Order: sequence, then structure tokens, then C-alpha cells
Amino acid sequence: MNMIEGHVAFDPAPGIPVWDIDPYDAAILRDPFPYYAGLRERGPLVYIPRYSVLAAGQYDTTREIFSDHERFVSSRGVGLNDFRHGTPWRKPSIILEVDPPDHARTRKVMARALSPKAIAAFRETFRETAETLVDQVLAKGRIEAVAELAEAFPTTVFPRAVGMTDSDPRRLVDYGAMVFNAMGPDNALRRDAMARQADIVPWITAACGRARLTGEGLGAIIYAAADAGEITEDEAGMLVRSFLSAGVDTTVTGIGNMLWCLSQNPAEYDRLKHDPALIRPAIEEMLRFTSPVHTFARTADRQTTVAGLPIPEGAKIICVLGAANSDPQKWGDPERYRVDRRPQGHMGFGAGIHGCVGQNIARAEIEALLTAMIARVDRIEPAGAAVWRPGNAIRSLDRLPLTFVAS
Ligand code: HEM
Repeated sequence: MNMIEGHVAFDPAPGIPVWDIDPYDAAILRDPFPYYAGLRERGPLVYIPRYSVLAAGQYDTTREIFSDHERFVSSRGVGLNDFRHGTPWRKPSIILEVDPPDHARTRKVMARALSPKAIAAFRETFRETAETLVDQVLAKGRIEAVAELAEAFPTTVFPRAVGMTDSDPRRLVDYGAMVFNAMGPDNALRRDAMARQADIVPWITAACGRARLTGEGLGAIIYAAADAGEITEDEAGMLVRSFLSAGVDTTVTGIGNMLWCLSQNPAEYDRLKHDPALIRPAIEEMLRFTSPVHTFARTADRQTTVAGLPIPEGAKIICVLGAANSDPQKWGDPERYRVDRRPQGHMGFGAGIHGCVGQNIARAEIEALLTAMIARVDRIEPAGAAVWRPGNAIRSLDRLPLTFVAS
């Protein structure tokens, strides 16, 4: 068996275009839009020989593959490694990296913890923290928005919402980077993120234990499910780990990308100020326009066809959500950020049974920050060049210098 990046190599069927490109090259990850367009133009599926994977970027095909959990499974990993043929770097997630029927049991517990009702309890803390942070930022005027807002807000409110008694913002953000970069090839991004494994993983594992959580919050809801016999004590720890893997870096990215969208489009920020009802659509449009999760994979669990093209069993398919979210066949004027677009069907939170279970709390965090901003901040202006940070699965900013001008 010829293996490549932890999965079985295969040859593409006739009719599938071959594209000799490295989608995980740092330059492409910093500015992915020409790659997204090239992928869509070549067809519904493209074969990338460097990694022996198929790639989907047209909206319909990407959605079909990403949401068909019967033919395209998650249990073999949602990155390039096929868990059937190797040992993953950590114990697989019992929600993200599992298929039905097991998935339904853990998903039910997570969905309860992250239900709109459960999240309503945090709204007041989110509001107060957002107001304090925005006041601090306004007092300074010029800020580095990635560190001072995008990272500062979720790393303050989210560990509290989970009920962590001992938080460490740096380790939380770096753990996210590890989880998401591990989904790509064995490149410098993955190796650099993994270099901190020995320090971070034991800390995260300990932080998920019952003894390290308060009796209230998301963690307590998960452990209550263990007490009720729905899941085991170990599984409860694994689900709390999912909060920390998937709930910090993603939201940090969402807030950074949101601030970038609004600072680049002052007229759109003005519209938000005059019509706060546009806050929710503005968040959805940020998810479509910047695709914080740009690429996740699936594995074909059987021989099948998509768009009339044959796919062999075991094929890894990278689903390029960023390309689907900017497909002109689906979206008019996709390269424009418009707060009133209401982009129904965007794939920023995925699609199908694995669609983001944390989306309510993610939206609530971003909404709290935007609400505080539009009441206090007249203008957000770039104060230097925004710098994107290459990531194997996440598209986030490394630096975003901004000036906040008070109303
Ligand atoms: C802007 C912020 C966020 C973005 C863009 C995002 C994006 C996504 C995407 C694209 C998926 C689908 C993965 C797949 O199908 O393979 C997903 C799943 C998931 N997300 Fe999020 N997410 C965000 C915030 C959060 C938060 C705050 C939490 C936790 C509180 C969270 C927890 C999860 C979990 C546990 C899954 C797996 C669900 C399942 O497999 O059933 N996410 N997310």
C-alpha cells in the first residue's frame, strides 16, 4: 500500500483534472482567492498529485460531499490523515471525528449544553465584558486588534462560560492552532504548532477534568450527563476537550475577521450603526466572505460518484469551504462584503449532521462585541497593513492594527 500524508495514495479516474499545486503553501494560505477560483474553474473535482487528494471547491459539490455522512465519513479524520491506517496524534474527538449512530449520542449532550437557552445565561457577562473592552480600546485609540480584541474577548468570556477554574489564554489559543494545523500535511505550520504539544496537551487534559470545573457552566452540563448515565466520565472529559479545541481559536478568528471586514468597508460599518438589526446578517456575511474554517476533509468510505465522476474507496477529499463560499454560481458579487446580504446556505459553520454545534455561542460572542462597538465607536480605521496568518484549516489574521474613533 502506497501511503501519502497518512492516507492511501490513489490515481484519479479519467475525466478528473490534475492540478499540480500545493494548497497548503504559505503564500496561497495568505491570499487564497486565486486558488479558490482556479479550483472552481477546473471542475467539480480536481486531483492534487502532491498529496494524492481530490479537492472540491464548487458550491454544490462541496456541500454534497461535506454533508453526506454516509458516503463521506468523518471517523477516518477530517484532515489528511486516514485514521483507519495510522494512529492519530491525539485520541479522536468523540463528536467531530465519529459517524452515526455514535455521533448522535454525544451530539445530543453537546447540543444541550450549547442550546440557545443555556447560552442566554451568559448574555449579561458577554455584554459587560464587551463594553469594558471596547471602552479600553477607545481610550487607547490605536490598537493591535488581534491581541487586544479578537483574542482578549473570547479568552476572557469562554473559559468562564465553560466553568474553568484555571485558564491560560496563550495555551488555549495555541491548542486550537495545534488541532487545526494538524489537519494539514506534515509541513512547517503543522510541525511548529506541534512543537508545543508536550507543554499544552497535559495542561488541556487536566483542565477538562471534573475537579477543575465549577459546578456551573457548560462543563457542568456535560458532567451532569455523565451523572445521568448518558455518557461515561471519560467521555465527559473528551467533550469538554471539544469545547477547548473548537471553541477558542475559531471565535478569535471570527472576531478578527469581523473587525477586518468592517475596517475595510466603512460604509458597511455605518449601516450597522444606523440599523443594529443588521448585526446578525453582518456576522453571517463575515462567515461567508472570510470562511474562518477554509478547508476540512472527508474520506470516501465506499466507491462512489459525485457529479458523474468516480471516487475510489479510501479517497481523501478536501472540501474547500472558502471556495464554496465565494462561488459566483451561488453568490452574486461574491467578492463584496455586504452586511445586508443574508447569505443563506453559507458553509462557514459547515453543513449536515456535523454542522457547528457551537454556532449559537459563537454568534452571541461576536454580537456582544459588535453591539458594544456600534454604541460607542464612530469609525474603525486601518492603522497599518493587516497581516494574514497561514493555517492548514483556519484563515485568521496575525496582525490587525486599527484606530477606533469615539462617537
Ligand atoms: C466563528 C466561530 C466558529 C466557526 C467558524 C466554526 C466552524 C465549524 C465548522 C465549519 C464545523 C464543521 C466541521 C465538520 O463538519 O467537519 C464545526 C463543527 C464543530 N464546532 Fe464549530 N465553529 C465555530 C465556533 C465554535 C464554538 C464556539 C464551539 C464550542 C463551543 C464549536 C464547537 C464545534 C464542535 C464540537 C463541532 C463538531 C460538531 C459535530 O461534529 O457534530 N465551534 N465548527
